[in-house]
Amino acid sequence: MKTKIKNYLRAGYSGLYLISPEEKRIEGELKTLAAEMKYSLYAWNAANGLLDTGTGGVIASNDPVETLDAIAGLKEKSLVLLRDFHLLLDDPHPVLIRKLKDVLQIARTQAKAVILLGCRLNLPPELEREITILDVPLPGKNELEPVLDGILESAKLKSLKDVQRDAVLDAARGLTTVEAENAFALSVIERKTVEPSIVAREKAQALRKNGLLEIVDNQESLDSIGGLNGLKNWLLCRRNAFGRKAREYGLPACKGLLIVGIAGTGKSLTAKATASVFGLPLLRLDAGKLFGGLVGQSEGNLRSAIGTAEAMSPCVVWIDEIEKGLAGSRSSGSTDGGTSARVFGSLISWMQERKAPVFMVATANDVSQLPPELLRKGRFDEMFFVDLPNPTEREAIWKIQIRKYRRNPDGFDVPQLARITEGCTGSEIEQAFIDALHQAFAEDKEPTDITLAKALTELAPLSSLMREQIAALRTWSKGRARPATPSEPSNGSTRKLAA
Ligand SMILES: Nc1ncnc2c1ncn2[C@@H]1O[C@H](COP(=O)(O)OP(=O)(O)O)[C@@H](O)[C@H]1O
Ligand SMILES: [Mg+2]
Repeated sequence: MKTKIKNYLRAGYSGLYLISPEEKRIEGELKTLAAEMKYSLYAWNAANGLLDTGTGGVIASNDPVETLDAIAGLKEKSLVLLRDFHLLLDDPHPVLIRKLKDVLQIARTQAKAVILLGCRLNLPPELEREITILDVPLPGKNELEPVLDGILESAKLKSLKDVQRDAVLDAARGLTTVEAENAFALSVIERKTVEPSIVAREKAQALRKNGLLEIVDNQESLDSIGGLNGLKNWLLCRRNAFGRKAREYGLPACKGLLIVGIAGTGKSLTAKATASVFGLPLLRLDAGKLFGGLVGQSEGNLRSAIGTAEAMSPCVVWIDEIEKGLAGSRSSGSTDGGTSARVFGSLISWMQERKAPVFMVATANDVSQLPPELLRKGRFDEMFFVDLPNPTEREAIWKIQIRKYRRNPDGFDVPQLARITEGCTGSEIEQAFIDALHQAFAEDKEPTDITLAKALTELAPLSSLMREQIAALRTWSKGRARPATPSEPSNGSTRKLAA
C-alpha cells in the first residue's frame, strides 16, 4: 500500500481517498512514508482541527472551510490526512466542494497532497474525477506479526513456537490490526498464551458485525453425500488445486462452482463439503442481505466482505440460494434506485477479476430467477445440475442417514427402502427416518423396516407436487449444466466412491 501511495504522490496526484476502518495503522504508515519522502505530515479530524504531526502545533480549527484555506497556504511537500471529512460529504455545502477542488488544484502544482480516510466510500459526483480511490487491503500475516509480538512482549510471554505462531497469524487474517490486537490480548487473559482457537472465535464474532459474511463451522465431507459422483469426482480432481505445488505447476486458479437443482437434493450439503475437500475455511455470504440491503449500505458491505474474504484467502465463499436475493435486484430499478443491481454488478466483476484464491460456490433452486450475466463463461468453472437421486444413490443416502442417527444400516432392508422412495429427495429420506425414530421412541422401541414403511406412507414427495417445475428444470439444464450424477451404468471408478 505504501509503495502505491508513494507512486501516486510522485506522479503528482493531489487527492486520494483511502477506504479502510484502520485509522491507527494508516496514520502509522503515512508517518513512515512522509519521513521517507521528506514530506511534512498534517492531520485533521472533526474534534481537534488541523495539527502539524511533527510539532503537535494547531494550524487550523475544526472548521472544514478554514482548514481547507490553511491547507492551501501550507508549504511545498506537505501531506494532509483528513480523517472525518467523508462525513461532511453526505450533503455538502457548495462552498466546501469548491474550496476542496481549489485546494486540490493548488496542491497539484506544489507537491502537496490531501488524503481522505474513511471506512466507507462517500464521494459526491463533483469530486469523483478529482480524487483517486484506493481500497486498503486488510493486514497480511507480515503486518500482523508485530502486533502479536507487541502483545506477547507486554504480557511478558515467550515468543510462540513457529507452528503455533503461524496458526495464530492465519487465524487472525481477515481482522484489522486493532481487532487482532484485542483478540490476542483476550487470549492471553483467558489462556495465558495466544491460541489460534480463541483468535478464530473472536474473528467469527467480528465478522458477524458486518452481517454479510459468516464463518461456517463445517463438519461435512464428501462422505456425508450419497451419490452425485460426477460432482464429487470434479471436486476430488481439484482437491490440491490451492496448494503451493499447484501454483508451481502453473495451474490456473479455480474460480468456483454453481450448483443448480431440485430443493433437498444436497446442494447446500455439497457446497459445505467443498471447503473440506480443499481443506479451506468456509465463509457464507448472505445473498438475501446483500441484494436486499439498505440503500447505500449494501455497496460498502460488499466491499468490506470482499476485503475480508481476500484477506482470509485461500478460502471458500458460499452463496446459498443466490437467486433469492437476485429476484429483487432485477426489478429494483424503481424501488431502491438500482442499488441491488449495482451491488450485483460489483459482485460479478469481482468474480471475474479477482486475483486472490477465493473459491466461490453458489447454489440455486430456481434457475428462472438467475440473470444471464451470472451464467456467462468465466464466472464459474462449471455448473452442475442435481436431479432427484437414482436408485443406487437412494441406497447410499439411506445408509448415510441411518448411520447419521447412530443406527446400523444392516438392520434395515436398504434396497427395498430405496425402491419405495422413488421420487424422494435426500432431504425427504432424512425426514422419513427422523419421523420413524420419533415413532419408535414414543413406543419405547427401536425403528424397524415396518416403522419406516409407516412413516413413508405419510410422506408426499415434493417431486409429485412439482412435476412441471422439475421437468422445466431438466430441460433448462440440458446442454447448459453438467449432470452431478453421471448417467447409468456408472463405471467402476465412480461406483467406488458411493458411500
Ligand atoms: N445426496 C444426499 N446425500 C446425503 N444426504 C442428503 C443428500 N441430499 C440431501 N440430504 C440430506 O438433506 C439435507 C438437506 O439437503 P440440502 O443440502 O440442504 O439440500 P438443498 O440445498 O439441495 O436444498 C442435508 O443436510 C442432508 O442431511
Ligand atoms: Mg439448500
